[in-house]
Amino acid sequence: MTKSLLLDTNNQNILAAAKQVLTYNTTSEGIIIPAQGLYPHQVLWDSCFIAIGLSNYNLKLAQKQILTLLKAQWLNGMIPNIVFSPGLRYWLDRHIWRSRIAPQSNPNFATGGITQPPMLAEAVVRIGNKLTTSKRKQWYRSVYPALLAYHEWLYIERDPKNRGLVTLIHPWETGLDNTPPLIATLRHQHEPRWINLVTRLKLDKLADHIRFDAKYVDYRQRNSTIEALSLYAALRRLRKQKYNTQRILEKPPFAIEDLTYNCILIRANELLSEIAKTINETLPPLIKNRIIRAESSLDQLWDNDQSEYFSRNFTWDSFIREPSIAALLPLYSGAVSPLRALELVKSITSFENKGVNFPVPSVPPDSSWFKPMGYWQGPTWINMNWLIIDGLKRYGFNRQAELLTRKTLDLVGNNGFYEYFNPLNGNPAGIANFSWSAALAIDLIMNTKATEL
Ligand code: GLC
Repeated sequence: MTKSLLLDTNNQNILAAAKQVLTYNTTSEGIIIPAQGLYPHQVLWDSCFIAIGLSNYNLKLAQKQILTLLKAQWLNGMIPNIVFSPGLRYWLDRHIWRSRIAPQSNPNFATGGITQPPMLAEAVVRIGNKLTTSKRKQWYRSVYPALLAYHEWLYIERDPKNRGLVTLIHPWETGLDNTPPLIATLRHQHEPRWINLVTRLKLDKLADHIRFDAKYVDYRQRNSTIEALSLYAALRRLRKQKYNTQRILEKPPFAIEDLTYNCILIRANELLSEIAKTINETLPPLIKNRIIRAESSLDQLWDNDQSEYFSRNFTWDSFIREPSIAALLPLYSGAVSPLRALELVKSITSFENKGVNFPVPSVPPDSSWFKPMGYWQGPTWINMNWLIIDGLKRYGFNRQAELLTRKTLDLVGNNGFYEYFNPLNGNPAGIANFSWSAALAIDLIMNTKATEL
């Protein structure tokens, strides 16, 4: 049967509802926040996914999301993970980060003090593809210097061993806040004594009910109180060092060569090169060199013993052999051989035999970490599916990409635009009306052609 997703009335309903979610989450300044209440500020990779969705129907608004992120760029080139919105929660949230203590911060904006996955180049190109040639060049010229400075900063500050892989200094930088490799690393590398005390006295059980996020979401669907405290403790260590990478890396609370992040960066470098070419710019040798080395750099994260990709601990130089969806992200990077890509595709399809009806789970169901409704420890996330679908298409696995697209749209079509979903039965979890779930559903619908299903 030939069925066009675009002509499917059900998908038209999803499309209309998704656009409503984005409108609902738009601030008076025209910024689309991740979700009302729980996430009231602009967040780096969320904004990129949102811009990708918007690029299908409102280019101006899509451009605005990117330009406001770039305006908040730090003096050293870093694009911060959060740009704070004025308002009720402004003071408290800003105070947790205190970005202005860093001499390299942007004096005009209160921001977070770390970064997040570099989806910017992807968003910039998705917007560019929808513009006329002259408008595209104009758009690329307006963002290229900031984008380039960001990529350069990543390699200058975060690749001190010159391995072609950047190092992250906090789990929040990966975007997958509490996936097993990150929590395992925090536990091994740094666990302040007071956290052990809280665990021993079970004080976290008291805090469970008064947590700020429990106002919006059942706390059992979020990271645990102990995990939240460890994440906060690690942030305090960074703040103490005024977010100075060099000083932090001397004795880091957390430092890993993260698989997800580096896969996204490898792809982003390719896109940056496309941008540069369009406007007749030459990439500096630092970035060119990283592009040439992309495949061999990523290969360092392939564990021959387990035939799997893992993140690597920067301090101890060892693989973090804990399960997570990151293992599939090399598909999105485009820097793996077709044979390896095939191996990764096989592992996605193997989930079907493990009771997974709505792939792709953030942690495999046969892992001891697996919690079907537990934040980044099991649920299916729309942005991860979007990245995997993109990778599948690039390697020519079109049938698998279409199937995953359908399953992904079923999740939002059946439930609405929740933050994540139970991979076994598709039940919704996390916050409702979550912007990237809506934005990426729009993108999937608008970019899926008539298909043989
Ligand atoms: C959660 C996610 C993170 C996201 C943020 C805002 O912390 O783990 O990836 O950017 O929410 O939506």
